[in-house]
Amino acid sequence: MRSVLGSIMGGTTEFAGNFVPRDECVVSFFDSTVCVGTGRGVDEGRGPCACPLVHRSAHRGQAQGPLHTPRHPLSLRKDEELRQREAAFHMGSTVQEDILQQLEALHREAEAALAQANSSETTQAWHSEYLGRKGRLTGILRNLGSLAPEERPLVGKVANEIKVALEQALQERQAAIAQAELEAMRRAESVDVTLPGRPQTLGKLHITTRMLRDIYKIFAEMGFQVYESPEVETDEYNFQLLNMPPGHPARDMWDTFYTTTPGQLLRTHTSPGQVHAMRQYAPQPIRVIVPGKVYRYEQVTARSESMFYQVEGLAVGKHITFSDLKGVLMNYANQMYGEGREARFRKSYFPFTEPSVEMDIDCVICNRKGCPICKYTGWLEILGAGMVQPLVLQYNGYDPTEFSGFAFGMGPERMALQKYGIDDIRYFYSNDVRLLERV
Ligand code: PHE
Repeated sequence: MRSVLGSIMGGTTEFAGNFVPRDECVVSFFDSTVCVGTGRGVDEGRGPCACPLVHRSAHRGQAQGPLHTPRHPLSLRKDEELRQREAAFHMGSTVQEDILQQLEALHREAEAALAQANSSETTQAWHSEYLGRKGRLTGILRNLGSLAPEERPLVGKVANEIKVALEQALQERQAAIAQAELEAMRRAESVDVTLPGRPQTLGKLHITTRMLRDIYKIFAEMGFQVYESPEVETDEYNFQLLNMPPGHPARDMWDTFYTTTPGQLLRTHTSPGQVHAMRQYAPQPIRVIVPGKVYRYEQVTARSESMFYQVEGLAVGKHITFSDLKGVLMNYANQMYGEGREARFRKSYFPFTEPSVEMDIDCVICNRKGCPICKYTGWLEILGAGMVQPLVLQYNGYDPTEFSGFAFGMGPERMALQKYGIDDIRYFYSNDVRLLERV
């Protein structure tokens, strides 16, 4: 450490000659007031004191310094005074050097201590210890009075420079600490405003719900009302009243969940809704759609779930023909998939319709070129339909010689798969919101 004091001393070699060599340093700054070892004040006027630090000069008969009361005969007075002044000078220089060394030591120590201080509190404590009103620098300077007047400016100057240097160092340290504390706080409570915000995902209706609402709308325009029918059914409604008596081979088309109550089951299709509607409204004409969940005891695969939706359609009245069915379904397909879709009806079989058909539309994904969604056929099967079987009309309150009707059943998930090109029906009910981004 090249201290302020160091530079002062280095630049003031003329003082060096006035310094008493170390081993002759007979009194230290602080020893000048109280003699170490005796506890007796050195200037109490009771002769040479026992202080080992002053003995040598005192016993040599030399001046004992300004702090000792000189006692000598008058004849010796002049020489003695000279010696005294000299000694005082030496003594003063020694004291001055001592203070300067103390200042330097203090400076060094303070700097080291400051480097250790790492919080606002510790720097404050440091300030009061070294620079405070009752601090150590002030403590040293309080003894300035014991210096000869001509020696004071140098010590004062050095002390002041040390003070300024320490204050400056303190300021720098405090600034660094404050910065570090701020950084730490920022890190702890950091809000990085430069981070891009997390996009708020807006809630969306489930694809099935959207599909159902689209279906309701299209059929509402054609005069169809939504009719609700229970999910837990009886064998009678699910099968028998739809022309499938017990043991009918067509029952094999619907793998059924049975409840523990005999004759009670989870509906395998929405067709029992036809039965409910007819029994409720017969002999009035009917135009309803019956949406809802259906259940099948099936292995879950990409194409089949054990629970899915169906929308049943039923129209009963006088003079209802197959061309009415075709017209309604074509209108539906055009509205659901876009104008100009091609459709085809393939013969099929359902015990409750006669004749029965399945309706295909040209693949909306590949436009008949062939793709995995249409299994490279270019066509998508969208529903099963047919004219209500006369027995079914009869079982449920309508005279088949007077009334006729058509019925259809479609799967909204299947249609959504086709419409949005989704390849796996299991996505629908696995609660992954990413599915909703697909539409
Ligand atoms: N219920 C039939 C099924 O689940 C679909 C259908 C409904 C067919 C109405 C014809 C008439 O496959």
